[in-house]
Amino acid sequence: MSEKPEFFADGQAYERLMGRWSRLAGDIFLDWLALPKGLRWLDIGCGNGAFTEAIMAHGAPAETVGIDPSEGQLAYARNRPGAKGAQFRVAGAQELPFADNSFDAATMALVISFVPDPLQAVREMARVVRPGGSIAAYMWGFPGGGLPLEPIQAVLRSMGAPNVNPPGYEASRQDRMRAIWAQAGLQAVETRVIRIRLHYSSFDDFWDSNSVPVGPAGKALELLSPERREQLKAQLRKQLPQPDGTISYEAFANAVKGHVPA
Ligand SMILES: C[S@@+](CC[C@H](N)C(=O)[O-])C[C@H]1O[C@@H](n2cnc3c(N)ncnc32)[C@H](O)[C@@H]1O
Repeated sequence: MSEKPEFFADGQAYERLMGRWSRLAGDIFLDWLALPKGLRWLDIGCGNGAFTEAIMAHGAPAETVGIDPSEGQLAYARNRPGAKGAQFRVAGAQELPFADNSFDAATMALVISFVPDPLQAVREMARVVRPGGSIAAYMWGFPGGGLPLEPIQAVLRSMGAPNVNPPGYEASRQDRMRAIWAQAGLQAVETRVIRIRLHYSSFDDFWDSNSVPVGPAGKALELLSPERREQLKAQLRKQLPQPDGTISYEAFANAVKGHVPA
């Protein structure tokens, strides 16, 4: 099964699109995990290191390893000051290049909808984490409109654009996550919703951030004719800015956590 990433090949572009929101939601997720300091962490689909940095800030880890199939993302992660000391390597979630019981905690932050087989990925997490260790993930709630790019997706849908969700978007549902964690044999499974408020200083800030062609919506935008793109922009400009010109709305993610049986 191919793990060649279809999206997110450029760490700098990803930072512009998602870095600030990834960090905001990631901090809430880590608070919820409430794990002790000094653990060995594996960050799967670490991308450009936005969440790896949060792990290092929260957990004072003994060891942090980030893996991602995209070298373009990892190149940015390796130079991220807040992720200094983490090890980054190219690998995919379906077959982790680590021995059994190598870690105390494994995470997939904003990744589960992009892996070919989420259950296989979670079984791999459970294999490389020691008995009693933590396995957790969170993902924007695609089906419920939780993605930070939802305003763009909604206008694209109204314009008849083909589905702009990633192929695995159903795996972002809380009931799917709970079922996958249970099927992988994990214990004490819990889920929650993480809500964050997004703020853009202006329409240009919103547009410059969200129109980068690295994720599913950005790629769909790239395929629009210049006229349709202007039509979409005009619609968003009409509906989003507040009287002071800023833009603010809520996004939400679903999160799941469980333990490897002791
Ligand atoms: C939305 S980004 C999330 C990045 C980071 N974890 C964060 O929280 O900001 C999704 C990441 O999943 C990675 N990815 C795609 N397919 C993957 C796979 N099969 N195994 C592991 N990671 C994968 C992509 O390369 C991308 O960096």
